[in-house]
Formats: sequence, structure tokens, C-alpha cells
Amino acid sequence: MGVAPPATITTIVLFLFFCTAVAKLETYSHSYPSFNKSLKEKANSELVFENNATIEKDALQVTPDTGNTAVFGLQNQSGRIMFRKRFKLWDGGDGDINSTVASFTTYFLVNMYPVNNGTTGEGLAFLIAPTLQIPSNSYGQYLGLTNATLDGQSSNGILAVELDTVKQSFDIDNNHIGLNIHSIRSVDSKSLTPKNITLAPGTTPAFHNIWIHYDGVEKILRVYIKDKPEVTSPTPPMPETPIIEYNLDLRRTVNRYSYFGFAASTGDLIELNCVLQWNLTVNYFPGPKSPWMKILLGVGIPVVVAVVALAALLGRYLYKKRLVDRSQSNILSRLRTLPGMPKEFRFRELKKATNNFDEKRKLGQGGYGVVYRGVLPEDNVEVAVKWFSRESLKGEDDFLAELTIINRLRHKHLVRLLGKFFFNSNLPSIVS
Ligand SMILES: *[C@@H]1O[C@H](CO)[C@@H](O)[C@H](O)[C@H]1NC(C)=O
Ligand SMILES: *[C@@H]1O[C@H](CO)[C@@H](O)[C@H](O)[C@H]1NC(C)=O
Ligand SMILES: *[C@@H]1O[C@H](CO)[C@@H](O)[C@H](O)[C@H]1NC(C)=O
Ligand SMILES: *[C@@H]1O[C@H](CO)[C@@H](O)[C@H](O)[C@H]1NC(C)=O
Ligand SMILES: *[C@@H]1O[C@H](CO)[C@@H](O)[C@H](O)[C@H]1NC(C)=O
Ligand SMILES: *[C@@H]1O[C@H](CO)[C@@H](O)[C@H](O)[C@H]1NC(C)=O
Ligand SMILES: *[C@@H]1O[C@H](CO)[C@@H](O)[C@H](O)[C@H]1NC(C)=O
Ligand SMILES: *[C@@H]1O[C@H](CO)[C@@H](O)[C@H](O)[C@H]1NC(C)=O
Repeated sequence: MGVAPPATITTIVLFLFFCTAVAKLETYSHSYPSFNKSLKEKANSELVFENNATIEKDALQVTPDTGNTAVFGLQNQSGRIMFRKRFKLWDGGDGDINSTVASFTTYFLVNMYPVNNGTTGEGLAFLIAPTLQIPSNSYGQYLGLTNATLDGQSSNGILAVELDTVKQSFDIDNNHIGLNIHSIRSVDSKSLTPKNITLAPGTTPAFHNIWIHYDGVEKILRVYIKDKPEVTSPTPPMPETPIIEYNLDLRRTVNRYSYFGFAASTGDLIELNCVLQWNLTVNYFPGPKSPWMKILLGVGIPVVVAVVALAALLGRYLYKKRLVDRSQSNILSRLRTLPGMPKEFRFRELKKATNNFDEKRKLGQGGYGVVYRGVLPEDNVEVAVKWFSRESLKGEDDFLAELTIINRLRHKHLVRLLGKFFFNSNLPSIVS
């Protein structure tokens, strides 16, 4: 075989190395083992308090505590205590229904204490909301979540798990846990009475451990509850069976950017709505725009893509020997002189990395070819493999010029040159 004539270059593969990784979710964890004196100040600065909510008596008092009665009446109160950090919960377009959304898990210990001889009102909720502000007149049945005008509007963008101690006409009873979307009318609710759990028992304080898990891959929300006898008792293990299990796509429910926290209210009937411990972990998307989107956009415009690699296929002979005869191969020798091309890959490495160019690994199709997502088995590095088709290139020189430009580009948001490789266009497995 002589000098590779352009006609033999049927296919070329480019590699994009994701130096910042593929839209990796980041994990944020925060834990409040207590809201006692020594931790109160820090918590005060990390949380946002709406209305008369405070930290008192080693607890988040989402509505005022009896210790505040001199200042506040206990009736018709509503409040929120939200974590100041806002989280981005999904990336990309809302239409891509199968893409991953954020996951979160939270644990909290609550004490809802009736101060009025056993009558209770109204309830406490874990809340995901688009803003830190509480609506006005959200006391009574509205639990600090909505009010008479806002209730039921999907623009509320709220998701809440309520611990409700007053039976409204639409409630199952006065001792239930419910899942609320945009409204105080729960989409799912379970009475706690059959489980021997009383949210706000008459005379003795009760301590309820609540766990809420949202899985952004399965898109299922699960809520668990288990009591413990004393505040100092060890935290029991989370029950195996959730009390609420609900299929829910966060993208259809809350805002892309949301806050986490608590809301509560009292009405004519009152109780204390206290949170004594709180753990929150969110697997969220780093904002404002993930590197992944930039890369996807980038690969459509090859000049913008800092790349790698490639090669042309010069024949079964070369492939078998895995040798390149520079004197015979004009294009290969020129490729090798491109600076910053440290590594050559074999076709079968690429094939393995992309699971034989699996359709499911397809990331996109630009003007210059198809891009696949891959993982190099050796070092577990994520790569994008671009299958460059001959038809889109006018000639060998054009291609080399393109690569030289791409290869010189360096930008923190762009993929980096990883390597190049050569393969044989005559291989039957190469179809494009
Ligand atoms: C506050 O709570 C933390 C964590 O439970 C504990 O380590 C610390 O000793 C407590 N401090 C006071 C002053 O109670
Ligand atoms: C705080 O409590 C007082 C006394 O009950 C009440 O008048 C006031 O409206 C409350 N503040 C807010 C912002 O709800
Ligand atoms: C609480 O609100 C209800 C209904 O809005 C009202 O009838 C009642 O008088 C209020 N109670 C107090 C103490 O403000
Ligand atoms: C999403 O996944 C479902 C089930 O796996 C599949 O039937 C559907 O075609 C997918 N939709 C899109 C837009 O990828
Ligand atoms: C609770 O009941 C007792 C006796 O029935 C009464 O003396 C007391 O005032 C009541 N407390 C409240 C807050 O209503
Ligand atoms: C509900 O809250 C919104 C926002 O705070 C407010 O504009 C509206 O007037 C409130 N509605 C009622 C009935 O209070
Ligand atoms: C609830 O408590 C009663 C009486 O203490 C007991 O008989 C019953 O088995 C308990 N039920 C559950 C589900 O624990
Ligand atoms: C809460 O977080 C702390 C710190 O990560 C951890 O030690 C504790 O076990 C967590 N509690 C629960 C109930 O998950």
C-alpha cells in the first residue's frame, strides 16, 4: 500500500476528554445534631426565619414556643425556617423526561406539643419551595405553605410532607402524614393512628423521627416515620417500609432552583411545632450551567472543541501490524507531528469504551459526525468519541487543518485532548 490516498480515509474518530466530567452531580450535606446554645448562632446564620419563627429551647420553633408567649400570641401563627442555600435540581431541557434529576435525603426529629390540654393545631411540614418568603395569611389550615388565594396553583412550585394534626373537610383525620403538591390538599396521605403514632399526644411529649428520600433516577419519593420515647433515646433505625411512596418527577412539581426547610402553623387551636435535629443531603447540579451542556454544544462546533485524536484508516495491513509506516502514510505522519497528542488508541479500545458504539451511548449528532459517550476501561476516564465521517470532510488537508486548530485550543470549559488512534477503514465492523 502506498501513500494513503484521501479516498481510503473513510472514517475518522475524534476523542474528547471530559476534564471536568459529565454533568456530575455534587453532594451537599448539612447536619444539625442539635439547636442548642453552642450551635444556635451558626444555625441562625445559615437559616432564614419567616414571621415569628425562631430557635428557642434547643429547637427550631417554626411557630412560636410557649417561651415566647409574652411577645407572641400562639394562635393564628404561621412560620417558615428555610436553609439559605438554593439548589439546582435538574439540568437540561424539561422535555427530556428520562434524564436524571437531583436526589435528596433528609432526616429530622420533631416534637409537636399541644399546650392546650390535648387539643392540637395545626401542623408542621417539610418543604421544598422556590422562594424563602412565606405567603401572608398562611396560618390555620394553610400550614405556612399557601393561603386562600394561592392554594392549588401550580405556580406555587411547592412540595411538602405535612404532619397534620387537625382534620379539615378534605383530610382523612387529625393525625396523618401527607404529601402536598402546590396545595394543602394532599395527593397522598396516611393515618398514623394504625401505627400507634400520635403526632401531638395530649399530655406527654412525643418524638417522631422522619426520613424523606427522593431518588432522582427512579423518581420516587419515600417517607418513613418512627417514634422514639425520649429526646435523648438513640435514633432508631429507619423502618424498612415507607409510609408514603409516590412516583414524582421534581421537574413537574417544583422549581429548577429551590430551597429546603420547614413550614408550620397554628390556628384557633395551637401546638408547638418544634424540630430538634435536622440532616439534609442533596445531590444537586452545579449551576448556573453545567460543563456537560457546554460540551454538548461544543461538539456540534468542532472548532470550539479542544480535541484529540484520530486517525485515519489505512488498511488491514497497518492495523494488523499496529505499525505505521511514516514514509508510506502521509496523513499519519502529519497527524503525529501535531503537538500535544500524547497517546494513540486502538480501535478495539474505543469499541470497548463505547460498548461497540452502542446506540444508547449516543450523545448527539453534529454536522461532522456522531458522538458517543464512553469510558476507557483502563483508568475509568469518561470520554466522548466522535465518529467523523468522510462525507463531511472535503479532504485530508481540510481535516488536518481543522484538527490543528482544535488541538491548540485550550479552555477550562472545553474538553481536553486525550489521545489519538488509528484504525482500519476496511474492518467490517466499521459501519457508518
Ligand atoms: C450541643 O449539642 C452538641 C451536639 O449534640 C453537643 O456536642 C454539645 O455538647 C451541646 N452543647 C451544649 C452547650 O449543650
Ligand atoms: C408575630 O406574632 C404576633 C403576635 O401574635 C402577630 O401579631 C404577628 O402578626 C406575627 N408576625 C407575623 C409576621 O406573622
Ligand atoms: C384566628 O383566625 C380566625 C379566622 O381567620 C379568626 O376567626 C380568629 O378570631 C383569629 N384568632 C385570633 C386570636 O386572632
Ligand atoms: C423514556 O423511558 C421510557 C421507559 O424506559 C421509554 O419508553 C421512553 O421512550 C423514553 N423516552 C424518551 C423521550 O427517551
Ligand atoms: C387545661 O385544663 C385545665 C383543667 O381542666 C385548666 O385549668 C387549664 O387552664 C387548661 N389550660 C389551658 C391552656 O387551656
Ligand atoms: C396570599 O399570599 C400572597 C403572597 O404573599 C398575597 O399576595 C395574597 O394577598 C395572599 N392572599 C390572601 C388571601 O391573604
Ligand atoms: C398499638 O398499641 C396497642 C396497645 O399498646 C397494641 O396492642 C398494638 O399491637 C399496637 N399496634 C401496633 C401496630 O404496634
Ligand atoms: C445525621 O448526620 C450526622 C452527621 O453526618 C450522622 O452522624 C447521623 O447519623 C445522621 N443521622 C441520621 C438519623 O441519619
